Amino acid sequence: MKKRIEEVLNQQINEELYSAYLYQAIRAYFESIGLSGFSNWMKVQAEEELFHAEKFFSHIVQRGGRIRLTAIKEPAFEWKNPLDAFKASLEHEKHITSCIHNLVSVAEEEKDYPSKTFLNWFVDEQVEEEDNVSKIVQELEMIENDGKGLLMIDRELSSRTFTPPTNEE
Ligand code: FEO
Repeated sequence: MKKRIEEVLNQQINEELYSAYLYQAIRAYFESIGLSGFSNWMKVQAEEELFHAEKFFSHIVQRGGRIRLTAIKEPAFEWKNPLDAFKASLEHEKHITSCIHNLVSVAEEEKDYPSKTFLNWFVDEQVEEEDNVSKIVQELEMIENDGKGLLMIDRELSSRTFTPPTNEE
């Protein structure tokens, strides 16, 4: 594996681990305001991010690269309300999408076709990630912080569970 590819894939492990850290921070915020369903959704989201980091880890190792873990930055601590927290999540997912697209460009430039194929899963995954978060942002915008509406969404989000995809490469 070329050094440049090794470097950018390692950076993405940091991005995915930071994502898990950010969602745990948002989860803690939801716990602090008594919304356990929202908290559960963020917990599952953080678990998915660890799964993403693991996929990058395995790919680098499989291709004979070396893992280098770097410091994970501190996430925010406070959000104005649930809508604010979900808007921050959406912004973050958009950032991750651009990271993934950038990785695809680097893989193309370096003619690393196995990495390009590997990244396809993430290109699709990001479409789903942004869509999932957008839908919740829309619901929260609709209810405008109304207490009853929040509790209804909270109940809905409490049922999310983490299931790792089965047909992995
Ligand atoms: Fe790993 Fe939420 O993207």
